Amino acid sequence: MARLAGKVAVVTGGGNGLGRATALRFAEEGAAVVVADLLDGAGEETVRLIESAGGRATFVSVDVTSRADNDRMARTAIEAFDGLHVVVTAAGVATGEYVSGDLEGAQKAMRARFEPDPARGFVDLDLDDWQSVLDINLTGTLKSLQACVAAMLDHGCAAGGSLVTIASIGAKHPDAGSLQYGASKAGVWWITKKLARDLVGKGIRVNSIGPGFIETNMTAIMQFMPPARLDHILGQIPMGRMGTPLEIANAALFLASDEASYFTGEILHPDGGFFTD
Ligand SMILES: NC(=O)c1ccc[n+]([C@@H]2O[C@H](COP(=O)([O-])OP(=O)(O)OC[C@H]3O[C@@H](n4cnc5c(N)ncnc54)[C@H](O)[C@@H]3O)[C@@H](O)[C@H]2O)c1
Repeated sequence: MARLAGKVAVVTGGGNGLGRATALRFAEEGAAVVVADLLDGAGEETVRLIESAGGRATFVSVDVTSRADNDRMARTAIEAFDGLHVVVTAAGVATGEYVSGDLEGAQKAMRARFEPDPARGFVDLDLDDWQSVLDINLTGTLKSLQACVAAMLDHGCAAGGSLVTIASIGAKHPDAGSLQYGASKAGVWWITKKLARDLVGKGIRVNSIGPGFIETNMTAIMQFMPPARLDHILGQIPMGRMGTPLEIANAALFLASDEASYFTGEILHPDGGFFTD
């Protein structure tokens, strides 16, 4: 029996990386998937991959910072597939200017991140970038969840529902991303814990995944890091390698499915042992 048979899932950031791997994995396990992303071509490609494997999916062009877009995304699940049971919020950015797949732009935007003097980096922190990262990663996650929970309650499909947010090891560790990135992900983790309590009465479980370093467009930039910095990062991973998007998708599948029926307000860290210290 497929593990998500009869379920309808929304995956934000479903056009690339962890979101795409999750959308594909969910469809393999029987879910109908609403793939939401800012990048139309990438999101449509995810749908094509799902459909060519015999699954069901539809694409919605969404900027998670827009409440109207999030409402349309949730409505699409109800209108196209007559339900909404699982939500994974994987849309996210490393910097305010980050565009998934634009390696050159990412390299430029991330240069400031590796300021050799961290005190100087703090004093010179770009407040516009701070705001953009929080708007997308933190408030964007909140708006996606608000729209989806509203649809689940209105449509009478809340009971048995599962929300899975994507935080990061950066939510708890200061050496895994910029100040604004870590703050946004700590906020995502906080929303997760608070919502777990607020929604328990409706039968909705709310959990988070805090991945370590995973091979996606977001981490492709690491190849341009100073070698000593890269060695320092990889040296903190006992498994000695980065993770794959599928390894995160499998964690999301577990939390989304009824197998995780006693999990709520929890964060899983697929991180190769990063948090063993
Ligand atoms: N790759 C890692 O090592 C890693 C580790 C921890 C957490 N994460 C988190 O996982 C999530 C997915 O990242 P990824 O590594 O797959 O990166 P990615 O760039 O491959 O995918 C991110 C997707 O989000 C979409 N997106 C960005 N801004 C959006 C917006 N405003 N509205 C809608 N969609 C938007 C992008 O277009 C892209 O398709 C992010 O939240 C990221 O912070 C990644």
